[in-house]
Amino acid sequence: MLPAGPLMKEHRLIERMIALVAEKREKFEKKSEADPVFIEAAVDFIRTYADRSHHGKEEDILFRELKKKDMSEEHKKTMGELIEDHKYGRKVTGDLDEANASYRKGEEEALGRIKEAMDRLTELYPRHIEKEDERFFLPVMEYFDDGEKESMLEEMAEFDRGMLHRKYEDTVKKFEK
Ligand SMILES: [Fe+2]
Ligand SMILES: [Fe+2]
Repeated sequence: MLPAGPLMKEHRLIERMIALVAEKREKFEKKSEADPVFIEAAVDFIRTYADRSHHGKEEDILFRELKKKDMSEEHKKTMGELIEDHKYGRKVTGDLDEANASYRKGEEEALGRIKEAMDRLTELYPRHIEKEDERFFLPVMEYFDDGEKESMLEEMAEFDRGMLHRKYEDTVKKFEK
């Protein structure tokens, strides 16, 4: 398997969550009310799975190794855009989380901000994933030899093995404060 393999597989689950976000957004519109429990789950999914685990493997392993290579200008440019997308995704997810907290306190105007953040996420993720799947991950595999690909795959598996522990260590630390 290529190091692009696990990343592309994870895209399929992210797409399923984003499809739910789009569906729920329409429901919120029709009913003029949000579902804070769903939003909380979606924020946790995006932060932990899509950002920390998935973007973590992209940025801390694949992109880190790519930076050591003599990449084409086009690939360099695309990688820069992908990193910017990740930052933007973090910002929008933070906005969604904040709007949800306001909504839970009874501030009804927060519904508009919730829908806006959901729109931004459903615009961002499919476009971002398509860029990676169709124009980046496979062509950049050419920069690596078999040994390098193998060690990246191993490092990704190791990164995933530690994820659950890091997440719940953070939960404990949060409440110890
Ligand atoms: Fe990405
Ligand atoms: Fe990705």
